[in-house]
Amino acid sequence: MRTYFAGLIAIVASLLIMSEAGADDSAIRGQAVVEQWCRTCHVRPTDRANADMAPPFEAIVQRPGRDRAYFEKFLWEDHFPMTTYRLFDSERFDVVAYLMFLQESN
Ligand code: HEC
Repeated sequence: MRTYFAGLIAIVASLLIMSEAGADDSAIRGQAVVEQWCRTCHVRPTDRANADMAPPFEAIVQRPGRDRAYFEKFLWEDHFPMTTYRLFDSERFDVVAYLMFLQESN
């Protein structure tokens, strides 16, 4: 329960920061998709480092060559080890918008 609330507070806080930073609706929806489907593996930057988990998106967007085209291609392919997830196309676009927002605001 405590982790649940901590997660909720983190989401609300980052939504406030995002809207202040001028994130568009698509990026905000993309963040909701990430919270729902990607957090079982991808940690938040504030989480303790854990070798069993996937890196935070804030770090991924800093890697060389990670532009919009890269993420669009990535999200339309199977994502190993998460081969079973299927997002709607609109959700994929929103996730890319969110990743672009993270990249621009870093
Ligand atoms: C079952 C665990 C798991 C889930 C769930 C998961 N991922 Fe990943 N993801 C990984 C692993 C493992 C990597 C590889 C780690 C790395 O690139 O350092 C990765 C890497 C990535 C990368 C980096 C690709 C690159 O080449 O730099 C992106 C982008 C990504 N995931 C997006 C997502 C999105 C969006 C979701 C939710 C829709 C998601 N992942 C859900 C495990 C997962």
